[in-house]
Amino acid sequence: MRVLGIETSCDETAAAVVENGRDVRSSIILSQIAMHRPYGGVVPEIACRSHVEALPGVIQDALDTAQVGWDDLDALAVTSGPGLASSLLTGVSAARGLALSTGLPLLPVNHLHGHLASLFLGDDVPSPEEICPALILLVSGGHSALVWMESWGSFRLLGQTVDDAAGEAFDKAARLLGLSYPGGPAIEKAAAGGDPNAVRFPDGRLKATSLPGGIDPRYCFSYSGLKTSLRTHLEAHPEAAATGLADTAASFQEAVVRSLVGRLTLAAKELKPRSLGCVGGVAKNQVLRAGLDALCAKRGMPLYLAPMAYCTDNAAMIAAAAGLGSTEAKAAFDVEPSMLLSAQPQCGGV
Ligand code: KG4
Ligand code: ZN
Repeated sequence: MRVLGIETSCDETAAAVVENGRDVRSSIILSQIAMHRPYGGVVPEIACRSHVEALPGVIQDALDTAQVGWDDLDALAVTSGPGLASSLLTGVSAARGLALSTGLPLLPVNHLHGHLASLFLGDDVPSPEEICPALILLVSGGHSALVWMESWGSFRLLGQTVDDAAGEAFDKAARLLGLSYPGGPAIEKAAAGGDPNAVRFPDGRLKATSLPGGIDPRYCFSYSGLKTSLRTHLEAHPEAAATGLADTAASFQEAVVRSLVGRLTLAAKELKPRSLGCVGGVAKNQVLRAGLDALCAKRGMPLYLAPMAYCTDNAAMIAAAAGLGSTEAKAAFDVEPSMLLSAQPQCGGV
């Protein structure tokens, strides 16, 4: 099964050709980071217009790099949500047009299923059967979720953020610290050599006892208090963003990692999965990777991390999810634009 994947849910215009849900023949990503940097975050109007301009070239590049033509493909896959409505519409409209003109089947893929599929991309990676049931931490700019993967396509949402996503917390903190967008890499760099125990920031444990959808508050995350705490600290100690930057950044990063590893530790202890995994842009963070390594070493469990190239948004993971048999991919593609424009709850598709 050779799939051309298209991803335009946020600020990356991406296309990729993937075989059998794991062999990446090409993965083209045109990042818009430089365009959004002056605003400290993604501007939807700029993102959508840039996708319109870039997508045809990115798709052609993906085909050329993979050395395949339309006749060599078995299916098209496109991110159908969640994401920015106008950005999603760009990819979905292009994919529908291509499906009509080529006669190829078009498979809609949930963006979060795509992130989960990134675990299986590459040469030396296991198959879903080898790692499931697995406990997966999905941490990106738009989502923070703890997902139980019983088998490929059988996912259960255990917990999620009740406000900001972990990546979003990094991005907002970077702005407060005068660092550039995206905040995650900027804070990780600024934190090098800093003391992670210099400031004790809160890790957002939830006290609520009931949340909708059977979600366990003990497996949830909250970053609004951490952000406020950083702001208050900077108001009281202006030098913390200057001479004290390394210590402040390291302490902030430590609080985010503590919150993520803490929830994962609790869930691993209680639910006893066969393995642990971590996907999404924040999975690039080396302090988080080290924390997860330590947790798995202690519990004697295998740890599977998305390859660095497929942590942040890409189309290879979308083609992979379709190739592995996304739950939605089984249905005929029939997403009307009005569905895409309706509010997408955080992590609604998992
Ligand atoms: O997965 P992704 O491309 O976006 C969504 O699907 O939302 O992840 C982007 C996010 C950004 O918030 C960025 O700050 C964060 O991932 N990120 C990091 C690192 N690299 C990217 N966060 C922490 N440490 C990093 N090294
Ligand atoms: Zn993403």
